Amino acid sequence: MSDPIPGVRITRDADLRGLNTFGVDARAPWLVEVDDASRLADVFAVAPLAGTTPLVLGGGSNVLFVDAPEAPVLRLTGTQIRVLDDDGDTVRLSVDAGVEWHAFVLRTLDDGLSGIENLALIPGTVGAAPIQNIGAYGVEVRELIDAMHVFEPATGRSARMTNADCAFAYRDSVFKHDPARYVVTGVEFRLRRGGAPNLGYAGIADELAARGIDAPTARDVADAVIAIRRRKLPDPAVIGNAGSFFKNPIVSADIADALLSANPRLPVFPAGDGLRKLSAAWLIDSAGLRGYRDGDAGVSPGHALVLVNHGAATGADLLRVARHVATTVEERFGVALEPEPRVIGARWAQ
Ligand code: EPU
Repeated sequence: MSDPIPGVRITRDADLRGLNTFGVDARAPWLVEVDDASRLADVFAVAPLAGTTPLVLGGGSNVLFVDAPEAPVLRLTGTQIRVLDDDGDTVRLSVDAGVEWHAFVLRTLDDGLSGIENLALIPGTVGAAPIQNIGAYGVEVRELIDAMHVFEPATGRSARMTNADCAFAYRDSVFKHDPARYVVTGVEFRLRRGGAPNLGYAGIADELAARGIDAPTARDVADAVIAIRRRKLPDPAVIGNAGSFFKNPIVSADIADALLSANPRLPVFPAGDGLRKLSAAWLIDSAGLRGYRDGDAGVSPGHALVLVNHGAATGADLLRVARHVATTVEERFGVALEPEPRVIGARWAQ
């Protein structure tokens, strides 16, 4: 098929193996890649996207293909970063959805900016980061987002949504609840020059102390985060995975207290409003499942929250392991685990 619109690439029967970090086999009926988001109204007006609800993929680092998607897959591939304003203290940037997240973090550090250094080395794209409100080492991306640029296929319009419009919460946003409604085309960030680093997460302070750094810069914090992640989390370029497969469960204070008295070592964190967040990794680990393996699908031996593809696992194999983990934890602790990635081609709830 010839390219009907400049800057748009269309592939029929596209191989998605290289477009999901689990590295499982899946094919899409169509793959549509768009450099310039201002063309989206034109792209949605014609085949193969017209009248469909495409599956939007970023870096494919938060998706499990159990079956092939029925809808076309859409990727935004624009990679521009623009400075909106800079008063010498605060800098506002507008960043295209297709920019690779970690490359963006490094670029902000090169420019002397701070704010997202704790989120170094997270796989995926800038456009995908707000969907599940990525978070690590005491920082969530929502804290740095001013606004989102979106395209609404149903109306053919582009819009700017404020941070409040996005209903960000732990690993959650309006985009996760209503994935068909918006295509994220860009994100506006508000970063600082030389702001105070966030060292609240114990692991970071320990890592910096071990490195003999007592007045860390944003780059020092990023280096510490990169070192911790490399030690703990499997690299998707080496072994297929999608980071944490389960969300840390949020339960009532009463349930958390009962679990704590039976399991005094269970990590429990405040989650607002009489709620507590439990460590899913600890629950899975304590159920004896770290390193569990069923064929080529398994639980990472290094971190119990991460499912891994040891080579030739299918999406169905990984889903079977995920269900085994959730059932075992539920039987042992009475706590339900929910997947963090999008599961395509199967329902999680059976
Ligand atoms: N733990 C175990 N066994 C393990 C791993 C961890 O018992 O195999 C226990 C430890 O006690 C540890 C606690 O679990 O103190 C928490 O572990 P960790 O610090 O690794 O954090 P997490 O809650 O498991 C979350 C995010 C990660 C993020 C880290 C660091 C979620 C679902 N996951 O993991 O995000 O990097 O905190 O902030 O909130 C991701 O979303 O893909 C991701 C990797």
